[in-house]
Amino acid sequence: MYIYYNETEKEFHLQNNYISYIIKIMKNNQLGHLYFGKRLNHRESFGHLMNILPRGFTACVYEGDLEFSLDLLRQEYPSYGTTDFREPAFQVKQENGSIVTNFEYQSHKIYKGKPKLDGLPSTYTENDSEALTLEIWLKDNLINMDLVLIYTIFGEYGVITRSARFINNGKQKLKLIRAMSTSIDFPDADYEMLHLSGAWARERYIKLRRLQPGIQSVSSIRGASSAQQNPFIALKRPWTTEDEGEVFGFNLIYSGNFLAQVEVDYDNVTRVIMGIHPFNFGWILDSGESFQTPEAVMVYSDKGLNGMSQIFHKLYRNRLVRGKFRDGIRPILINNWEATYFNFDEKKILEIARTAKELGIELFVLDDGWFGSRNDDSSSLGDWFENKKKLPNGIKGLADKITAMGMKFGLWIEPEMVNKDSILYTQHPDWIIQAPGRRVSHGRNQYVLDFSRKEVVNFIYEMISKILREAPISYIKWDMNRNITEPYSIALPPERQEEVFHRYILGVYSLYERLTSEFPDILFESCAGGGGRFDPGMLYYAPQAWTSDDTDAIERLKIQYGTSICYPINSIGSHVSDVPNHQVGRITPIETRANVAYFGTFGYELDLNKLTDKEKEKIRQQVKFFKKYRELIHKGTFYRINSPFEGDGNITSWMVVSDDLKEAIIGYYQVLAQPNQGYKKLRLKGLSTKYLYRIVGSSECYYGDELMYSGLPLDNFYLEILNKDKSDSADFMSKVYVIKAEE
Ligand code: DGJ
Repeated sequence: MYIYYNETEKEFHLQNNYISYIIKIMKNNQLGHLYFGKRLNHRESFGHLMNILPRGFTACVYEGDLEFSLDLLRQEYPSYGTTDFREPAFQVKQENGSIVTNFEYQSHKIYKGKPKLDGLPSTYTENDSEALTLEIWLKDNLINMDLVLIYTIFGEYGVITRSARFINNGKQKLKLIRAMSTSIDFPDADYEMLHLSGAWARERYIKLRRLQPGIQSVSSIRGASSAQQNPFIALKRPWTTEDEGEVFGFNLIYSGNFLAQVEVDYDNVTRVIMGIHPFNFGWILDSGESFQTPEAVMVYSDKGLNGMSQIFHKLYRNRLVRGKFRDGIRPILINNWEATYFNFDEKKILEIARTAKELGIELFVLDDGWFGSRNDDSSSLGDWFENKKKLPNGIKGLADKITAMGMKFGLWIEPEMVNKDSILYTQHPDWIIQAPGRRVSHGRNQYVLDFSRKEVVNFIYEMISKILREAPISYIKWDMNRNITEPYSIALPPERQEEVFHRYILGVYSLYERLTSEFPDILFESCAGGGGRFDPGMLYYAPQAWTSDDTDAIERLKIQYGTSICYPINSIGSHVSDVPNHQVGRITPIETRANVAYFGTFGYELDLNKLTDKEKEKIRQQVKFFKKYRELIHKGTFYRINSPFEGDGNITSWMVVSDDLKEAIIGYYQVLAQPNQGYKKLRLKGLSTKYLYRIVGSSECYYGDELMYSGLPLDNFYLEILNKDKSDSADFMSKVYVIKAEE
């Protein structure tokens, strides 16, 4: 990996074995963007990549020069109001009301490693030789403001990370009204935009649209990254498939309001900007203050969508997720939510835990309802001490008993929220986010604590850390069940109210940072009414995330398939739950429920004591199976094969291959039974052509090339259907195959 700086041409070239990223200091001393994509050999000058054609009827920077118009130039971090008419990367409002700026190149630094971003999650290096960082310092002399653009290139990945920092060195108060994390101008618009959109219980469906002139975007202004839109977009060529062709992926390491926007101009130049949503955003910088944007991750792959996803997965697994569970084994858990909801006591919990232990499950998670006087969702959020009526021996008593059984114990919390019916609210009614004189809207009977205030975060920290210190707790599920309304903090002056959303998320991150550093042995799982805050910001603190409240195996095919576009398999919280399923009422075989959940963190969420002995035995076998293969599933390379979003969506399949290519696990799912099915094969991916693979549990052997180019012969569901128990449905069949290279 290299970062070249050509003094004469004033060009920067960031290059590794996979990608090149090229920047030029233009003649106005601002930064032009020359190239991002597949690696280019280094050469003396790349200036010709700018391709400017003088055009009539545009505004130009210098008198007498009709060529130099920012409207015609591809830029690195564009401003508005000085000849570029597209939406900019940033805007600084000055005391006189002007938003016109001129940031010119001053200096740069190239160094090994990667800096931490103050108070924000980001990717990291473990030693300095893994990455190189370029900081380009620009200055607007009139207002005495510095702008630092920070780029990191990793040696191992086709990735550039970017962020920006603004420093007010002048005397006047400056207000950032837009501060995106990244901006890139691509020379053409022959792309499709892929994004992950949805809602509660159907998060991260894959959506695809052809770029058109004008603006297309996904965003959130809910105070959370949201179930509706994920802070991820990809630009792919129309001919790019899962396995071939070019694709650029953009992901924001941030959990609050975001904008991911693509603007195609009249010349078919495509501008991608990504960062904190400028809507209702403002940040005042007093003299001497600075503002750091979140980090954007930009991935390039010429190996299709699978290639792009594999880069995100590997980077996030190794250099975003932190702590002992990054590489450590994730326990198989049982969660009592769908088993009991709020209706439990110690006896009932211990009964479930005992059976879980017998079946080999490793961690018991006590969900909502254990604290204050909470028996439904109308009370007690904020009162983080045990409900003695349900748990007479407290959390410690229960946790001790479960730990004595040989299981770990985990707990649900929702630290950002409060119910009006709580001691916390009675004592601090002014601690919620609320606008003066206005009615406060609720969501699920609850209100959002003002995490932009340090005293609020400190108070919650004290309560939560006390429980964690007192009881043997190995896991925390951190939930967040509503979005922010009436965005206003009574602790901030009127002119700083547009800072509330970002300050809120910084407060969330600060609590996460304190708890994860003080309790490094606790595994955190993030959650937000299902997958309403499944983003890389959260993964920095919590290595896994509850993917969706929709636990139906068939619904999960789409949700997990879509989530895998950007997020690693070992971050995807997945449980086997009861039937009829609580979200859709569907009855699926227990085998299929597990076959889907295996491709995630894996656990259970049902009352095991209501199952038949036959079902319990199946669970025992599933747990055994997962323990055997979890290392492969969580650390191997994931490939999507058949998409539930394509065709009639009846077939989904995916697989994971070990790093040494000697082992693979394949999941194959058929939604509805089909009559008179023909001979079926599944073309596998990522195997070695040299190895002869045996299908575990059978005597069949095939070489890797046969499996990839001719296909794995599939069991005939049609025949299985004919032989099935009359009481079972023939729909929702699935099969998991394991293959191993013969020694
Ligand atoms: C929403 C979560 O997604 C569920 O798993 C569960 O924890 C409930 N909240 C509890 O209120």
